[in-house]
Amino acid sequence: MSHKIAPSILAADFGNLQRDCEMVNSSQADWFHLDVMDGVFVPNISFGMPIIKKINAYAKKTMDVHLMIVNPDKFIKTFAAIGANVLTVHYEVCDHLHRTLATIKQEGMKAGIALNPHTSVHLLSDVLNDLDLVCIMSVNPGFGGQSFIEHTFEKVKQLAHLRKVSDANFLIEIDGGVTTANARKLLDAGADVLVAGSFVFKSDDPAQTIADLKAV
Ligand code: DX5
Ligand code: ZN
Repeated sequence: MSHKIAPSILAADFGNLQRDCEMVNSSQADWFHLDVMDGVFVPNISFGMPIIKKINAYAKKTMDVHLMIVNPDKFIKTFAAIGANVLTVHYEVCDHLHRTLATIKQEGMKAGIALNPHTSVHLLSDVLNDLDLVCIMSVNPGFGGQSFIEHTFEKVKQLAHLRKVSDANFLIEIDGGVTTANARKLLDAGADVLVAGSFVFKSDDPAQTIADLKAV
């Protein structure tokens, strides 16, 4: 299976949201990556339900929603209703992770867990077979355009090893500071999905940049 590219809409031009969504639709991208921030779990606020609903009206590809919020359980049904296909919650805010994952799946979505840079992949060992996706944060969540944390390569390798020995089949997604300079090394370490915000939307030709990431 070839790797997936998920452009992060956080870096899109919100004044031209329809145009940017259509660019993603007609590009080689696989997913839309949508970052929801609450100003509590992370030191920034991004966008919420009305914008996601609008993006869903334009998007013709999988909607990969990354919740950087406390109490994600409160909103699982709502995100299903507004079009999320993959719903990722942060390990650091879930007291009852197993139940949260089950609820996401009951609502018909794929269930993902995101790990902050300081959170060990080994903490997932008891839920590996309940997961559809693990999002390894390669920056501290909250902002686009930050630089990639090099230790990520090691984490991806560790997680890919855990996946193999436990016979699990979740996807490994990398989020933050992804460019064509680190993409190949991430894929070789075991990554399946590359999220890219600034690298795509701040480039002169976003569709070509997506194609470049896909061809890595
Ligand atoms: C960061 C977000 C990322 C962000 C990535 O908190 O989760 O998805 O949009 O942006 P870049 O690719 O610019 O680092
Ligand atoms: Zn994200």
